[in-house]
Amino acid sequence: MVPYLSEEEFELFRRLIRKHVGISFSSAKKFTLQRKLTSRLSGLGLESYRAYYHYLLHDKEGGWELRQLINAITVGQTEFFRHVKQFELLANVVLPQIVTQKKTAKKLRIWSAGCATGQEVYSIAMVVDDMLEDSNDWDIKILATDIDTDALKFAYKGLYPQDCVQQVPSEYLRRYFKKRVGKDAGFCVVGKTLRKNILFRRLNFMRSGFSFKSDIIFCRNVMIYFDTGVKKKLINNFFNVLERDGFLCLGHAESLIGIDDRFDLVSRSIYKVKK
Ligand SMILES: C[S@@+](CC[C@H](N)C(=O)[O-])C[C@H]1O[C@@H](n2cnc3c(N)ncnc32)[C@H](O)[C@@H]1O
Repeated sequence: MVPYLSEEEFELFRRLIRKHVGISFSSAKKFTLQRKLTSRLSGLGLESYRAYYHYLLHDKEGGWELRQLINAITVGQTEFFRHVKQFELLANVVLPQIVTQKKTAKKLRIWSAGCATGQEVYSIAMVVDDMLEDSNDWDIKILATDIDTDALKFAYKGLYPQDCVQQVPSEYLRRYFKKRVGKDAGFCVVGKTLRKNILFRRLNFMRSGFSFKSDIIFCRNVMIYFDTGVKKKLINNFFNVLERDGFLCLGHAESLIGIDDRFDLVSRSIYKVKK
């Protein structure tokens, strides 16, 4: 039987999680958290939430268990070309402006912040490669980061079941993926053209320094889990690493209203640093 998580214990974990990950668990999500904690408890052979809480505080393995908990509580829902209109805007509005600004330096930096299992960063890489005819002459780096190490491993592998790549336009599928045979039959793997410019890294927005100077940052469907204070800090950090005239793409349900007024809304949750 799943042991009951008392209000007091819920509060302890809620605070711990907010402090380390930024995610705010509302009271409505108490049973979701209880379920996730129970699976960690049984994995460690612990009998109470309090024992688990102390285990986390005094983790002798340098934070390993905290990482496992983080992997369990993060929501990695994603898909290729999610919010497809944003990718159309990336191709037709955002990239043309950046390419014009950077035509001499030929240096392009994009960050997929909260990349989950990689569908977002590969979608970006496809659009960039397709759009830049002379892409080989450009110094392109696309940074893909997430706090969830399981999601990152999956992203790095780049191996997706067929039904996962349904939203990928057929021309892109043909150009950028390879169909697997044998034990991976029914899967497609991302090809070298996309991989060559992508760097995968673990990064916790609440802990790590932000140093990747970016022309475009995608941070979509991440802030919805954060409260206003955490959102403000995160956006301020993004502001500090965005180039002048840089773009910030948020999820459709996210906005900068009441968070930061140093950006102009371009369209569909795409923002540009104000002049
Ligand atoms: C719903 S997914 C969004 C994936 C993708 N950006 C998209 O829109 O399809 C949210 C991601 O944010 C990551 N995340 C949550 N808190 C984080 C933190 N503090 N630092 C870094 N990543 C975090 C989660 O691990 C998860 O993979």
